[in-house]
Amino acid sequence: HAPKICVVGSINMDMTIQTRQMPRQGETVLGQSFALYPGGKGANQAVAATRLGAKVTMIGAVGEDEFGVTLRKHLQVEGIHTDGVIKNSEQSTGVANIILSEGDNRIIVAPGANAAITEEVIDRHENIIQQSDIILLQLEIPLTTVAYTVKKAKQYHIPVVVNPAPYQHLPKEIIQDTTYFTPNEMEAEAMKKEAASSSIKDKMVVTLGSEGVHFYENNTKKKVHSYSVPVKDTTGAGDTFNGAFVTQLAQGETLSRAIHFANAAAALSITKVGAQAGMPTVEMVHQFMTEREG
Ligand code: RIB
Ligand code: NA
Repeated sequence: HAPKICVVGSINMDMTIQTRQMPRQGETVLGQSFALYPGGKGANQAVAATRLGAKVTMIGAVGEDEFGVTLRKHLQVEGIHTDGVIKNSEQSTGVANIILSEGDNRIIVAPGANAAITEEVIDRHENIIQQSDIILLQLEIPLTTVAYTVKKAKQYHIPVVVNPAPYQHLPKEIIQDTTYFTPNEMEAEAMKKEAASSSIKDKMVVTLGSEGVHFYENNTKKKVHSYSVPVKDTTGAGDTFNGAFVTQLAQGETLSRAIHFANAAAALSITKVGAQAGMPTVEMVHQFMTEREG
């Protein structure tokens, strides 16, 4: 059966400019192109999981503006349940300014309405949490809400994955009650400095881009390779990994197989410009893995 996943997270409009040259401080450069893409780490991860066969319900917030209408409709077209996506009249829909140069990116997020995902919103949608096989969170919503959701998930004995991006200091309760963290290298370093590494080691699934993914099993460090592909845009690669990873876990895959599959999905995602463009279906991932590994 299709795994049920609840993503509690951000919804942004990505405003992406492609340029040959990254502007330096105080400098203006002429870019090549501009486009709007649906984004936000929460929405991206929800889309990735849905394309890979999960039944996804999102808890999130948009403003009462054009971007909000567009992004909500977009989630629905992707097949995501939006009963948990509230409208906030006080703040504008989240936006991300993305500068894309030679596949490299720099991003600033103005969370806007994403800040309206409060503990009260979680309470109102508690039934969604309760009915999920797994919960997936990132840090583009208030940290208090992340902590509250993690606690709720624990009460219901539902596994929860936290993608600690963009990085913020994590309170002890989140560290304790989260099943897996999926930091990148920098986020992992920051976490190790803050938490006793013995208490988090077994929960860490560290994504290292072209260097693959590190994790621990039975106290032994393990590595799963990543795939090299022609890079168009790495925006959303981590999100694709997360959406794929939880879908696989919810289907009962082992940690290493889930990571292997998620690496393939993430590789495919970076071959197209736009966070969600390039996010593959299960068939595409299997075909890709067969091509690469036989
Ligand atoms: O992880 C990529 C995402 O980060 C972008 O879609 C942007 O909206 C920011 O949230
Ligand atoms: Na992409």
